[in-house]
Amino acid sequence: MPTWHHGLVADWWAFYNTDGPEIAYFGEYIADGQPALDAGCGTGRLLVPWLEAGYDVDGSDVSQDMLAHCRERARAAGSEPTLVAQPLHELTMPRRYRTIVVCGVFGLGTTWEQDVQAIGRLFDALEPGGMLLLDNEAPYSDSDQWLLWTAEARARLPEPVKPRLERRAAPDGTERGMRSRVLASDPLDQTITLEIVADLWRDGELVATEARPLTAALVSRSADQGHAGGSRLRADRGPRGLRFRATDGRHEVPHLPRPKAGHGLTVRRAAPRPTRATRCRS
Ligand SMILES: C[S@@+](CC[C@H](N)C(=O)[O-])C[C@H]1O[C@@H](n2cnc3c(N)ncnc32)[C@H](O)[C@@H]1O
Repeated sequence: MPTWHHGLVADWWAFYNTDGPEIAYFGEYIADGQPALDAGCGTGRLLVPWLEAGYDVDGSDVSQDMLAHCRERARAAGSEPTLVAQPLHELTMPRRYRTIVVCGVFGLGTTWEQDVQAIGRLFDALEPGGMLLLDNEAPYSDSDQWLLWTAEARARLPEPVKPRLERRAAPDGTERGMRSRVLASDPLDQTITLEIVADLWRDGELVATEARPLTAALVSRSADQGHAGGSRLRADRGPRGLRFRATDGRHEVPHLPRPKAGHGLTVRRAAPRPTRATRCRS
């Protein structure tokens, strides 16, 4: 799986990305719906605080490096959670969940087809009545990124490599740096390709540099939540990609408040109806 969350990038997440409003935001749903799965749990930014709160939560992630950090952090907090190394589109967990959270994960380095499969796998991993919480940052919410869809801006890509500016002390006694740039933007495929460059200094000497590309999907028509605080939901990725409706078949959309930041998708798995099709539409 071509994500960049390996090696020095995984270290960076473990060292510096340890907080955020999503812990409390999604945590409220987990408090009411367990067991829960943090799908794409990374280094445990969300998972570990939830374990510390006493919640019954498993984790999955495609990156062994991210999971190794997560395991170490969980152990330090006195927990041994079930952590499984799997991409979302091959998700097969040992149990089903009342709540699944997918935060900052969907559409990273995957094909549209894999994303469609992932929705099906996530749906199948829910208990009847369970809920999938899936965040999505719509591309038009970031004007810098939106401009990259113009022909003029695309003609200036790839951006040049940025100079090394940041150098941060790490808990392991080393120093770390991180730079990113845009390599390409594809408005028809609705993807953006970025590159991250991570540096490692030991005793003041630069000893490693890793450059990793990542193509991320930009889901521009992600959710139509209607007027009643999330009364309808539709995900639609156009002719080549994901298309599912949360309002038909076994899907119901619960009356939830709108996500506080960005755009979010919420899907509840209704109790099984034997006479109806049980597959996620694609
Ligand atoms: C931006 S990090 C977010 C981690 C965590 N959810 C959080 O909010 O702190 C993205 C994580 O998703 C994982 N990931 C990306 N694509 C994935 C996929 N298709 N299946 C499973 N994990 C994936 C990466 O390895 C990385 O750990």
